[in-house]
Amino acid sequence: MVSSRWRLYLLFAFISFQSLTCCDPVPTSNPGPRPSESLSRPHSGTGTATIEPVKSTETAKPPNPDDNKYFHEPGGDDLLHHYDIRFFQKIVTDEERQDTLRHLIRAYLLTFEYLGLETWIAHGTLLAWYWNAKILPWDWDLDTQVTDEGLKVLGKNYNQTFYDYDQGNGTPPRRYFLDVNSWAWQRDHGDGANIIDARFISVENGLFIDITGLSEVNPDTEPGVIMCKNDHKYRLRDMFPLRDTHFEGVKAKVPYSYVPILIEEYTELALVQTEFHDHRWDPDMRQWFRIPETQKPVEDTAQIRKRSLP
Ligand SMILES: *[C@@H]1O[C@H](CO)[C@@H](O)[C@H](O)[C@H]1NC(C)=O
Repeated sequence: MVSSRWRLYLLFAFISFQSLTCCDPVPTSNPGPRPSESLSRPHSGTGTATIEPVKSTETAKPPNPDDNKYFHEPGGDDLLHHYDIRFFQKIVTDEERQDTLRHLIRAYLLTFEYLGLETWIAHGTLLAWYWNAKILPWDWDLDTQVTDEGLKVLGKNYNQTFYDYDQGNGTPPRRYFLDVNSWAWQRDHGDGANIIDARFISVENGLFIDITGLSEVNPDTEPGVIMCKNDHKYRLRDMFPLRDTHFEGVKAKVPYSYVPILIEEYTELALVQTEFHDHRWDPDMRQWFRIPETQKPVEDTAQIRKRSLP
């Protein structure tokens, strides 16, 4: 049993390595339910994966509000809703989470640049950039945005493709899965189950970047206003032209008027308050550090994590 799994795994790894080196986009050609089916095989050999993603979608026969939901997480609570169910194995440690997210956003930005697709960082990730262009050490997921045109290109040409990212330091390449929601073409809030248009997911542990498209939903009544499906609105002139910058050491773009955008979403306090989520800003090091247990942390007042995304 184990050895045949290993053979499958090696075969799979070989095939994917052949086709995926250098970030080449590889549209999956098998018409099976999900590529995760083949991916779950290597994982099942580790003995830690307890989720059978393919089964759970197939047996979801009784009507339930989640039926229309495209992306699924292993649970709805704070600990579990940051993982894509197909790649979730276990709740990761703080170190693994930060390491994953750092490389996730690097790989994402490099991949989009390689593909020639415009994207920029948003929400909590934009706030993280504002402070020191690094992920916030307490964050669980990342957010980026694309235009609705960009979203179409993603859905048509790059849906369900894998990318390998090599740090170039001898460690094994990390693999990512880009998946575009079937409901990405529908541009209104709908029942709220599909407000995330696409995800860039770490195949290793299921942590992801939420990608949302912005479109001018009401050109007649709200011209020049673009919004995502979760009703975050932006003025076109605040957004464009995007600014070139860096995030986690790679090229990145941010909205032109990022200050009003951040203030609107998180209040002024988020740009000045130096204690959040048991971390304190060190102005000399330009970095957030965990407050030692012996010092009493102050209460959070700006609601950094109170995003309305699920
Ligand atoms: C992406 O591929 C999946 C699997 O084939 C499909 O269910 C989904 O609708 C696709 N997304 C788009 C935007 O076509």
